[in-house]
Amino acid sequence: MQITDPHPLTARRNGPLRGRARVPGDKSISIRALILGALTVGETRITGLLEGEDVLNTAQTLRALGGTLEQRGGGEWRVRGVGVGGFAEPGAPLDFGNSGTGCRLMLGAVGGCPVTAAFDGDASLRTRPMRRVLDPLERIGARTLASTDGRLPLTLAGARDPIPIVFEPPVASAQLKSAVLLAGLAAPGETVVIEREATRDHTEKLLSHFGAQVRVEPAGANGRRVTLTGQPELAPAPIAVPADPSSAAFPLIAALLTPGSEVILEGVMLNPLRSGLLTTLAEMGASVAYVERRTEGGEEVADLLVRTSALRGVEVPAARAPSMIDEYPVLAVAAAFADGTTVMRGLKELRVKESDRLAATAALLRGNGVEVEIDGDDLIVQGSGRAPGGGVVTTHMDHRIAMSALVMGLASEKPVTIDDGGFIATSFPGFVELMRSLGADVS
Ligand code: S3P
Repeated sequence: MQITDPHPLTARRNGPLRGRARVPGDKSISIRALILGALTVGETRITGLLEGEDVLNTAQTLRALGGTLEQRGGGEWRVRGVGVGGFAEPGAPLDFGNSGTGCRLMLGAVGGCPVTAAFDGDASLRTRPMRRVLDPLERIGARTLASTDGRLPLTLAGARDPIPIVFEPPVASAQLKSAVLLAGLAAPGETVVIEREATRDHTEKLLSHFGAQVRVEPAGANGRRVTLTGQPELAPAPIAVPADPSSAAFPLIAALLTPGSEVILEGVMLNPLRSGLLTTLAEMGASVAYVERRTEGGEEVADLLVRTSALRGVEVPAARAPSMIDEYPVLAVAAAFADGTTVMRGLKELRVKESDRLAATAALLRGNGVEVEIDGDDLIVQGSGRAPGGGVVTTHMDHRIAMSALVMGLASEKPVTIDDGGFIATSFPGFVELMRSLGADVS
């Protein structure tokens, strides 16, 4: 399911942004809900599922492995699973398109089953490192049969007799942790992941929700030790997917930067392991009020009331990176309009996202007249309260670079054009329409 025709888009300054909107369901939870639903015995009902390309591609691979997944309309899905270890051997390569999360989590899910599957994706996904996932899966008993340099396309033979392992991820990555836990489901005994830096905990929470035994304990200053008891019988359980904070970041920052704006973003997930951007924006002086805090789908959510704000530059510590890893490109846009320097530390992982996001973010800003520097793994933006704009941004098949550039264009002096908006649909279908409903000029 490749997105083919390049689809240029231009964003330009218009009046204030006003109104209410709900961004689509969380991508991380949506992908996990489908995978875990497919590993239960029985039928799981999911509401609010993100129907973006990354999620749809993952759904398609689960069908190829024997799951029954039905789209009922309006974000409602029914998944009938095959049980832990019950995947059937697929007849064709599994195509994950642009989705690193779908691919890495499914490597884990397949890695614990006695089937062989070929994994592939688009040109962006083919550049991304998979060795980090294959290493622990090989310890569990899976075998990599064919792969170039630990990248896609690759073929994985899942473990016949999976072994429970104790794993300390060498990088802070929820995808890596999740892959090991999903493979560990099929192993007897306890699979343990010890994270030096805690990352998003959706896999752990959903595993518990489906009836697996998962223990989460603190480990070190910022880390966690996650212990999963293997070979559970997962029971179906309904899932309501909350609105994605990583998607909400785009209209949120657009409203902060566009004079006279007042926007309400409904039901945004406030999971503390995803909230680094909100913490940072508060330090920058952003006016974001949490209205009606409540629980939806096992997560705290709130309606965010966002008003245009004068921002100041701040230093964002490296320790915060896992809780806002996908938000740096759009934070960098906000930093350009702030008063003073913003230093974002410890962004090494940005180099292996859908694009080299560190380089792509710097190029986005530079191409629109903003002073920016990469110093080792740090990104330094000189904010001057304004940006000239006028650039044509290369998006490198990266949805978040595309949306960040359009947010820049809504507030800069001259319009900003992106070479291809097609990839926005991987995580945020309806982005342009939602922004227009708030008064943005994107064409
Ligand atoms: C995700 C984890 C993050 C994030 C990605 C979604 C997940 O990747 O960038 O968009 O759902 O687990 P890493 O685990 O590689 O940091």
